[in-house]
Amino acid sequence: MKILVTAGPTREPIDPVRFISNRSSGKMGYSIAAAARQKGHSVILVSGPVAIKPPAGIKLLKVMTARDMLSAVKENVQKCDALVMAAAVSDWRPAVYCRQKLKKTRMPEFIRLKPNPDILMSLARQKGTKIFVGFAAETNDLKAEPLRKLRQKRLDLIVANNVIKSGSGFESDTNRVTFYFAGGEQEELPLMTKEKIARRIVEWIEQKELCRVMSSV
Ligand code: CTP
Repeated sequence: MKILVTAGPTREPIDPVRFISNRSSGKMGYSIAAAARQKGHSVILVSGPVAIKPPAGIKLLKVMTARDMLSAVKENVQKCDALVMAAAVSDWRPAVYCRQKLKKTRMPEFIRLKPNPDILMSLARQKGTKIFVGFAAETNDLKAEPLRKLRQKRLDLIVANNVIKSGSGFESDTNRVTFYFAGGEQEELPLMTKEKIARRIVEWIEQKELCRVMSSV
């Protein structure tokens, strides 16, 4: 299969030296790319700025902003069988980019933001038979919110995780996640390494693709 994976945060510049971003380390997305490659799939990894080494044998596309990520995903998604959006896309960006460094003595009283495009939402209509997997980063509602995202973004699977629980979420090597499937089923996984969760996601994608191929013959 051809699998497109996104990973890491996006960075939204305020001026040449400052940006807004989030705590994503990219570990989950990079683990998925590595697991898919290990199983012999062709992998394109669209990555925001992270401090980890990409797995060997994949095509890496480095991006900075949410809009860069949207372009890279749009350019590549049509030739792929599955998309896994593990990136923590910044929902907003500064409405104005200041070309010169803002001087300390001229502190802006506030920074006006504007919304970034929702990458998954903007692809929903072109989904066709492709397999779309998303992540839901939550701090309190671990069911209704992931289910809303699953439906609204037309996903086949959403992986929900509590990003403030210890051993879970950003920067951690482990995660505690629940899978919610489009068919209505759910699977709560115990605390696991991100590598192991990545393998589970790739195995599920493989099974889903197998079912699709079998039902089309
Ligand atoms: N996502 C996306 N484009 C965005 C924001 C998020 O494609 N601009 C994707 C993420 O990669 C993830 C899924 O949508 O797979 C859910 O992201 P999440 O941050 O949990 O939710 P949001 O849709 O941003 O909603 P909220 O911030 O209100 O929780």
